[in-house]
Amino acid sequence: MKRDFDILFVDQTGELGGAELCLAEVAFRLRHRSSVLLFEAGPFQRLLEERGIKTILLQDQPRSQSRRVFRGTKEIGKKSKLGAYFFFLPAFVRLLFGTLRAARAFDLLYANTAKALIVTALVSRVLRKPFLFHLHDIIDADHFAPLNRWLLVNAANHATGIIANSEATARAYQKAGGHNRNLKVLPNGFDIERFGARTEEEIWATRSAICSEDQFLVGLFGRITKWKGQKVLIRALSRLQAVSVVIVGDALFTDEDRQYKQELVDLVRQLGLEDRVHFAGFQQDVLPFLEAVDIVVHCSIFPEPFGRVIVEAQLAGKPVIAARGGAAPEIVEDGVSGILVAPGDSVGLASAIESLLRDPARAGQMAAKGRELAEQHYALDGVLRNWVDFIDQSIRGVSTNTRATTLPYSVHGRSGAAVARGLTNVRAERRPMRLAIVHDYLIQMGGAERVVAAMAEAFPEAPIYTSVTDYDHLLPEFIGKDIRNNWINRLPGSRRHFKKLFPLYPFAFRSMPRVDADIVWISSSGFAKWIQVTDSAKTVCYCYTPPRFFWSPDTYLNREFKGAVLKTAATVFLTALRTWDFQCAQGIGQFVAISRCVQQRILDCYGRSSIVVYPPVNVDRFAVTARGGDYYLVLSRLVGYKRIDLAIQAFNQLGKKLVIIGDGPDRSRLQTLAGPTISFLGRLNDSETKLYLEGCRGLVFPGLEDFGIAPVEAQACGRPVIAFAGGGALETVIDGENGVLFNELSPGSLAGAVQRCEKIGWDAETIRTNAERFSREVFLERMRAVLQAVSRSEPEPTARLAEKTAFSLG
Ligand code: UDP
Ligand code: GLC
Repeated sequence: MKRDFDILFVDQTGELGGAELCLAEVAFRLRHRSSVLLFEAGPFQRLLEERGIKTILLQDQPRSQSRRVFRGTKEIGKKSKLGAYFFFLPAFVRLLFGTLRAARAFDLLYANTAKALIVTALVSRVLRKPFLFHLHDIIDADHFAPLNRWLLVNAANHATGIIANSEATARAYQKAGGHNRNLKVLPNGFDIERFGARTEEEIWATRSAICSEDQFLVGLFGRITKWKGQKVLIRALSRLQAVSVVIVGDALFTDEDRQYKQELVDLVRQLGLEDRVHFAGFQQDVLPFLEAVDIVVHCSIFPEPFGRVIVEAQLAGKPVIAARGGAAPEIVEDGVSGILVAPGDSVGLASAIESLLRDPARAGQMAAKGRELAEQHYALDGVLRNWVDFIDQSIRGVSTNTRATTLPYSVHGRSGAAVARGLTNVRAERRPMRLAIVHDYLIQMGGAERVVAAMAEAFPEAPIYTSVTDYDHLLPEFIGKDIRNNWINRLPGSRRHFKKLFPLYPFAFRSMPRVDADIVWISSSGFAKWIQVTDSAKTVCYCYTPPRFFWSPDTYLNREFKGAVLKTAATVFLTALRTWDFQCAQGIGQFVAISRCVQQRILDCYGRSSIVVYPPVNVDRFAVTARGGDYYLVLSRLVGYKRIDLAIQAFNQLGKKLVIIGDGPDRSRLQTLAGPTISFLGRLNDSETKLYLEGCRGLVFPGLEDFGIAPVEAQACGRPVIAFAGGGALETVIDGENGVLFNELSPGSLAGAVQRCEKIGWDAETIRTNAERFSREVFLERMRAVLQAVSRSEPEPTARLAEKTAFSLG
């Protein structure tokens, strides 16, 4: 019979912070097989006991208060330095022994806070019991002193598994050196039923106790501590008329917090805002206040790890303004389900409040969207199910001696393993294929990185070798993955100047240890294929293009290098790079091109044949809708070679409406060309772009692209594409069926195509069907087939010499 494992949750505080409220939910669900060990008494313990959850209390204060040198661990804060630990030691030892004693009776330990993690990691080591860590903090320099960061990351790396409360906390952990791969991002869950149950009268009663009827009421919820940024709102308030603020929450943890609270009171007095700021103190139940306010703001000046109060505000149906940082952008889509402002910017906050106050209809729409999305993502039942599953899988993983890293990883419930179905047994029936991924750099999360993300999700076990990683902006698929950077990553400024460092990349990839795997899948438009692999490894190179700056160097040379000497030196270096790159290309087992146009370039440059697998487009994001706009659309970065100038001239001639989404160095030049029917919207977020795509009459795509994602996205909305007949468009646009091709790079030719487009009766569903050929599933299926074929093929051909090369080695 399957036995339930007993769990000991460990939490350092007795207060009611967000991490504790979060833990209370899972401890309640698992109350029959768990206890919560606390390092101090307080309201948290009372809450647990009221809910029938067993608690064990370890008092870490010495019995004799006179021996001041033996301080309690409470005095060790996130920012404490080494010296503080000296005083903390006796108390720590007491905690350690207490936890050791308590933990013997349990199968799994579960640390819910940072201090609890350090104790739990040691205890689990001694008792040889597995432990999980719930990461509620952003481990960065804003929140923690260096020593504490080091301790935390090291302890967390030894955990059987980690639950991160957001992608932001998971990214920060990886950036700080965290490499635990059994990591799951799981947001907090909320009991939706509790929200919206109060009557108008009750709401009114709460509200009128705070401010008069003519005031607009802004709520700020959360404990009072400097990084939660209460001062930012008070300063914003001094710029606003007829607005009152209620601050709900109290200083919970440290003397510094209490001092900050005093500073708030003083600031309110100084600014003469006493009658417009109401301190409500800590509320056992914040709901009456949440429902009484008009909007909720969240002002953390450091990145917020999750931010329960943001979700609670959305569930209460309130428009939210949150500080852009940490997990806030994961919860609030700017301009759609709330507003994001710069952290610490009281002027920006004041104008955001004013914009909502002036436009109640927009505020209402955002609130409704916020509530809808919050109900979808944060409903308690779903979150708890994933949470309990993860705990159980982790214990089972250990007890059946499976390595923790084989567990599926998922973000907000999306399972990477599901996508990987059928992928493990490529080579032999019993042994899973070992795949390694190599990519140039994980810096800008552009098209190539989305391809790598799809592979990383499909092959969760594959290590990813690269040069530099920007952990702050990693796509969610990369969270918890085994990313191995080379030494460029350690160079100061390498993230900002990653392009300028190009001469170093070949050497950096060469200096990495040989990659050992069955198949090494190399994704590259740069130097990743310079990596070396072991003799038995086979290689597949997914090629976006041979590096342009040395295979079509003329434009590059003229642009980047001034002066004859520099130009000559650069020419010599680029020629050498070309020679080496050519040689590297000969060592690749199988080239795969992103389009036929790149296939030709691979043949021209490397003399190598290749097969075409189109890159994945997220067609599921789009739908055919009845939305009918009267405009054509350009969706593009505004750079010269995209030839947006042609579109502008054509639409000037036609006098038809053209909307241009995107930004770039060419924008001001293009704006001077544009007539009255053309509008520039700049960069928009994904949801806004989607709305424009779904409503356009057609997408205009005048440039020459190797593939081109935007045309497929427009087609996924059932909209035709007007494209220049060249490059990747020839493969995605079928004239008369899902778009119109024009043959000359001239405004006249483009204008003719627009007129032709208007004469055709388009069938949106046919257009959409074409786009589905480029879905992520199709990409993965084809890539899987390539890997299977390669794994069955003969051992790697040794460097083949090309029959045909586009340059001379001499
Ligand atoms: N909260 C509360 N009473 C208060 C103020 C806040 O119960 O007076 C709750 C709030 O509803 C939220 C939690 O405390 O659930 C704070 O969690 P959050 O994640 O926003 O921030 P944390 O304090 O954990 O950093
Ligand atoms: C921590 C974080 C907070 C988060 C909470 C629950 O207290 O500061 O942002 O919402 O944990 O995960």
